[in-house]
Amino acid sequence: MDHETIDSDEWDELMRNLEATIPVYDRINRFATLGQVAKWRAAVRARLPGEGDSMTGRVLEVGCGPGSFAEDVAGGELVCLDPSELMLEAARPRVNAKREARGDSPVEFVLGKAEELPFDADSFDGACSLFSFRDWYDKRAGLSEVLRVLRPGAKVVIVDPAKMNRLHGLFGWLWMRVWVGAYARIVCGVSDHPWKWLTKTYVHFGTTRDYVRMLEEVGFVDVRAKVIFPGMATIWEGTKAES
Ligand SMILES: C[S@@+](CC[C@H](N)C(=O)[O-])C[C@H]1O[C@@H](n2cnc3c(N)ncnc32)[C@H](O)[C@@H]1O
Repeated sequence: MDHETIDSDEWDELMRNLEATIPVYDRINRFATLGQVAKWRAAVRARLPGEGDSMTGRVLEVGCGPGSFAEDVAGGELVCLDPSELMLEAARPRVNAKREARGDSPVEFVLGKAEELPFDADSFDGACSLFSFRDWYDKRAGLSEVLRVLRPGAKVVIVDPAKMNRLHGLFGWLWMRVWVGAYARIVCGVSDHPWKWLTKTYVHFGTTRDYVRMLEEVGFVDVRAKVIFPGMATIWEGTKAES
């Protein structure tokens, strides 16, 4: 595992561990981020195409997991992709019940991987990925695929806990290891909790700047990154150039 790739055995094990987090995912996520996760999700929604809280156009979420972000996306045409059938099964009823209650069209759920997106070129008005990019087994290939499926002028928005430098990374590691680990053990009552994989992928994940560079190298323009309060996560944005 390095900041660009995860080998296939490790990725399979990571996926099994991610699936095991489904029942406690939202609880631990809220706790681990001291409740800030809701603001980060709102920051992504604000960067998707649309007016106010209502999204417009066709937007792809890569790595939707159990639907924690998708359920609050109002309007537009949302397509949620994940390589785990179990994640999609958890997300489908939850997200579509909320969309139906708001009068929005149902989400299209697609089994697939960032690295081989099963979509036509130039077919999305926006794309996002929250707490998933870190898990992609080939981040460069995944970003190239996202670029391919975006329409010219469309934007990708990514959130994940990158580090600014080694010292920041050490704090992040301690935070996940001690704080999140203790919560998983005490509140969820499991000593060998799969959540510890978070620490592992965090350690191998690169810096904010590594992925600014990667977004630029695969061809995104107007690439920006911001470490968001209180310094636990980075939000990256990149645009597909108008041809
Ligand atoms: C922690 S969950 C994120 C859930 C959700 N996006 C959120 O906002 O909380 C990470 C998801 O990324 C998915 N994932 C892992 N590797 C992936 C890949 N190569 N391509 C697309 N999704 C991937 C996992 O299956 C998992 O459901």
